[in-house]
Amino acid sequence: MSLRSRITGTGMCVPDRVVTNADLVEMMDTTDEWIQQRTGIRERRWVEDGQKPSDLAFGATRAALENADLEISDIDCILLSTLSGEHDFPGTSFFLHEKIDAGDIPCIDLRAQCSGFLFGLQMADALVVSGRHRRVLVLGCEVHSTGLDKTTAGRDVSVIFGDGAGAVILEGTDAADGPGLLEVRVHSEGKHARRLWTEAPSSAAPVRLTHEMIDDRRIYPFMDGRFVFKHAVTRMPEVLLETLNAASVKLDEVDLFLFHQANLRINEFVAQKLEIPESKLVNNIQRLGNCSAAALPILLDEAAREGRLEAGQLVSLTAFGSGFTWGSAILRWG
Ligand code: COA
Repeated sequence: MSLRSRITGTGMCVPDRVVTNADLVEMMDTTDEWIQQRTGIRERRWVEDGQKPSDLAFGATRAALENADLEISDIDCILLSTLSGEHDFPGTSFFLHEKIDAGDIPCIDLRAQCSGFLFGLQMADALVVSGRHRRVLVLGCEVHSTGLDKTTAGRDVSVIFGDGAGAVILEGTDAADGPGLLEVRVHSEGKHARRLWTEAPSSAAPVRLTHEMIDDRRIYPFMDGRFVFKHAVTRMPEVLLETLNAASVKLDEVDLFLFHQANLRINEFVAQKLEIPESKLVNNIQRLGNCSAAALPILLDEAAREGRLEAGQLVSLTAFGSGFTWGSAILRWG
């Protein structure tokens, strides 16, 4: 009997601390107008001192388990995507594992940046469909705020990013024509890795972390914004259509489109290019900023809780990010 994987629970967790554009004006030379005009962002959430990535992942996991009416003992494997690991090693998933008391089930961190959740979803799907694991917890989790240059020198990057975690539970179902994941496609292009990256600390250097790296600000993310923008608005429509085509779904059959929340202008551009009506889009970047790997599971959870998703509807998720990486998924909700 062939299995299909299906999302049976979603959850999210963002810090309580709201950081508005006006708060950023106190830290650097920027304006609310510049930020809103270029990115659509009004505010984001940043962690309080001492709040860790695994705390956010824990909150999202608990919410997803509750939503699915499951216990942690019902989960067989944890895949956590992040670009802002709690420590150099081991991965954030291990600190989550400890917090949720996950026994000895396997966990692993995936590093595919803003497309990380879709990479995780594809791998979880393969694990479930092959029968290797019955239920996989898939997370995106980021604490960007502790790694940003919050001075004017880092303003092009630091105004964009927010902290948060999102989680889904993926489970096998034998109803081949029922709700579930229809297709996930992901891609990478390493030749653009340095267009959006944080160079240090680096194991490629004779010493991983030096005072010089800190003084040169190589410990902060660098982004070639226009280059990233151009690639995002090309790759996102491309992979979205590739995925729909592979699943034999027509663009106008899709009920809801969830795009990675990197920049509202990117999403408007993509929607316009594909002639997607505004009524089929949801965005939360205005409130949460760019939470990288956490953005899509958070958006999915919000859409589900706000009643934007009805059983049987077709939902498309698409992302682009550092690496470069990009991907898309199509699923039938329910
Ligand atoms: N506040 C005020 N001014 C700022 C600023 C800020 N936060 N950040 C940059 N500027 C200034 C620049 O210094 C520059 O000034 P200059 O013209 O005097 O040199 C000017 O604004 C324009 O900068 P530029 O970088 O060319 O802006 P842009 O129109 O390309 O917009 C981004 C910048 C980052 C919003 C845009 O490039 C973008 O969204 N790129 C994609 C980002 C993305 O998606 N990243 C994540 C992918 S996962």
